This record gives sequence, structure tokens and C-alpha cells, in this order.
Amino acid sequence: MSQVQPLSAMKNGFDAERVRRDFPILEEALPSGQRLVYLDNAATTQKPAAVLDASDAYYRHANANVHRAIHTLSQRATAQYEGARDKAAAFLGAASRDEIVYTSGTTDGINLVAQCFARPRLSPGDEILLTELEHHSNIVPWQMIAEITGAKVVVVPIGDDGSVSLADFKAHLSSKTVIAAFAHISNSLGTVLPVADMIEAAHAAGATTLIDGAQAVAHAKVDVQALDADFYVMSAHKLFGPTGFGVLYGKKTLLEDMPPYQGGGDMIEQVSFAGTTYNDVPYKFEAGTPNIAGAAALGAAIDYVSQFDMGEVFAHEHELLTRATEAMQAIDGLRIVGTAPGKAGIISFVMDGVHAHDIGTLLDESGIAIRTGHHCAMPVMERFQVAATARVSFGLYNTDADVDALIAGLESIQRIFG
Ligand SMILES: Cc1ncc(COP(=O)(O)O)c(C=O)c1O
Repeated sequence: MSQVQPLSAMKNGFDAERVRRDFPILEEALPSGQRLVYLDNAATTQKPAAVLDASDAYYRHANANVHRAIHTLSQRATAQYEGARDKAAAFLGAASRDEIVYTSGTTDGINLVAQCFARPRLSPGDEILLTELEHHSNIVPWQMIAEITGAKVVVVPIGDDGSVSLADFKAHLSSKTVIAAFAHISNSLGTVLPVADMIEAAHAAGATTLIDGAQAVAHAKVDVQALDADFYVMSAHKLFGPTGFGVLYGKKTLLEDMPPYQGGGDMIEQVSFAGTTYNDVPYKFEAGTPNIAGAAALGAAIDYVSQFDMGEVFAHEHELLTRATEAMQAIDGLRIVGTAPGKAGIISFVMDGVHAHDIGTLLDESGIAIRTGHHCAMPVMERFQVAATARVSFGLYNTDADVDALIAGLESIQRIFG
């Protein structure tokens, strides 16, 4: 994806009102009778009817365990479960379906790589390179591994606008860096990181890379081979799919070289008390009865988003971002935190004299859902010396009317407190 979307590349024809109608929850009036203005897409996205139907259809018509029985339902379940793997491989641009490991989400994928890839390779004095804008999911698993192995977590600082500079990143790489793990897009500030260049620099230093794609997959085209990412993690629920499900992409040679994550059924080739051998990748990492409905629903979510050109989606969300940013900058006492050039559709902000939680509560009274707090990125709050921010995050179904409702709500809060 391009780091900066030029205004000339924007497409105005994206019909978000039509897209919105695919999402039953957005069509449902709130108890107050108001239209729901859902601006908390970085936390989770809403689900289109096609995804709800896929989950329901799995339980109604295919409910059985995968890979194990020869009966019809089991074959149906296996076809849905494995069919989604093909879709995920194509969606992320993987070279092979074997590079797609199912997880319970981004957090699980990062923990898997930390435990199975990094832990056996780390010695005292080795370094794990992160950036200051990471979500706690991409900090804490590395701190845990560092504590066990004696490795050190090194942090690339973020600039005053919330950007991560490639030069700074390079300056923090060294021959001791074993793994560099960083977000594709920041959930708290919307910064788009120069991931392709960061991956190239990390490889030049001999390090392996993990990209946290939680905030990227629903907003921009991702191609793991073009990026040359070693590992790339995502959550289905941020891509209009189900909660508790996700994908870890890993280069096959790396996955093959890693020990299993958990032991149990399906991840084995042969079990005996004399010794056990493991299944091939990716099954080696998928112990126990998996979330089959989750896979079926992720497959439907991928089919759903694949009808759109992700460049147009990014441009649409960029238009909403521009419209909202310009109007918010005109509100007295409102300050946007995170203004990196080319940022994605996320706006973190504070208002003089109003606690972020009060902003959230007052907007909710008008049917507007935003997120308030530290956004699981406490180091970012510390960096900008704020206890919390209010955060607006756009999705492909958001419209100009949603932005206008938000601005009217914020102006009214400013009148009350200002
Ligand atoms: C950038 C980023 N990384 C990781 C996560 C964790 O995702 P999950 O809770 O789905 O595992 C999130 C969720 O907000 C996120 O935004």
C-alpha cells in the first residue's frame, strides 16, 4: 500500500450508504430511536449479513468436527474450514495455504511467534526491537520472553506527530536484533508505518520481522510477499468477521523450523509413549477442535471485502478523515493527538476541561459510539502526556452524515464545557 494517499487518487464514487445497508446492526434504530453512528471500528468492526449467515449456516447445516470423520457433515465442516484458509492465503498474498495458521486473533498470533520462534533463538544480550506506538499485544508477549531468555526489549521512539521515522528505526537495529515487531497501522494514532522499508532494513541487519496487521487489513491492501514480511498477524473481528478468530501468516520455512505451540489432537502425526511426531504446518500449530464457525465466517468476511478495491476504501476513509479533521480543528480547545502525514482513518483527541470518558458518554447519548481511554497503548499516552484520549475510527460503511453527527456532538460538548 502507498504510505500517503494523494488527494488526486481519491475516489468520490464509493457508495458508503449502500455498503451500510449490508450491516444489520447499523440499520437497527437505537432504543432512543436514533440512527447508530458507529465510529469505534478500530476496536471491532460490525458484521455484514453474509458473515452472520455463514456462521449460522455452519451450525445449521455442517456442524461436525474437522479432519476426523468421513461422514457428510464432517466433510462439509472440513471444506468450510479449509476453504477459508485458501481465501485467507489469497487475501494476504501468501505463497501457499500452508503459511496460514489459524489463531484466536492478533494477540494469540504474536504470542505464538514469541514463544515458538523467538524464545528458542534468544540469548542474554539479544534484542527485540519494537516501536513506542505498539498495542499492548505487541509489547507484553515480548517482555515476557525477554524476562525468560535474558534478551532486551529495545524501543524506537515516536515523533511529536506520532510518526515512526525509518532513520530512527535503522538507528535502533543492530547485529543483536533477533526480531523486529511493529504495527502496520497504529490503533491509537492512525499512523501508517513505512513497513516495507522497515522490513527491508531489518532483513539487512539480519533480523526477522513480525507485522501487527490488526488495523491494516480492513483498510488497505496487504500483500505479505510484496512486503517480504516474515510473520503477519490479524484478527478476523477487525475485518468484519467473528471475534475470537484470526490468522498468523508465516513464511513456510520459518514455520517448519518452529516447535509446536500447544499439544493435543490434530497437531500430531503419530503418538506413542515412546515419543510423538508432529503434523505438518500449519496443522502443527492448531491443537484441539478449532473454531470452525469462526473460519467459515472469516471466509465470508474475506469474500465480502474482496468485492471492494482496497485503494478505494482507503481513499473513502481518507475523505472522512479529512472532513472530520478540518471540522475538529475549528473547535476551540480540541487537540488532535497524532498527525502523521498519510495517516489512516483514526483520530485521537483531547478537549480542554472535558475528560475523555465524558466526551464518550455525551456522544453516546446522541447515538454516536466512539472509544475513550488508553486504547491498550499506555506508552503512547505517556509519550503525549495524556491520561486518555477520545478516539474516532472509521470503517468502509461510515458516511459524511456520520462525520457531521460527530461534529455536531462535539460542538455541543464544547458549548457545555467551553
Ligand atoms: C494494533 C493492534 N494490535 C493488536 C490488537 C489486539 O487484537 P486482538 O484483541 O483481536 O487480539 C489490536 C486490537 O485492538 C490492535 O489494534
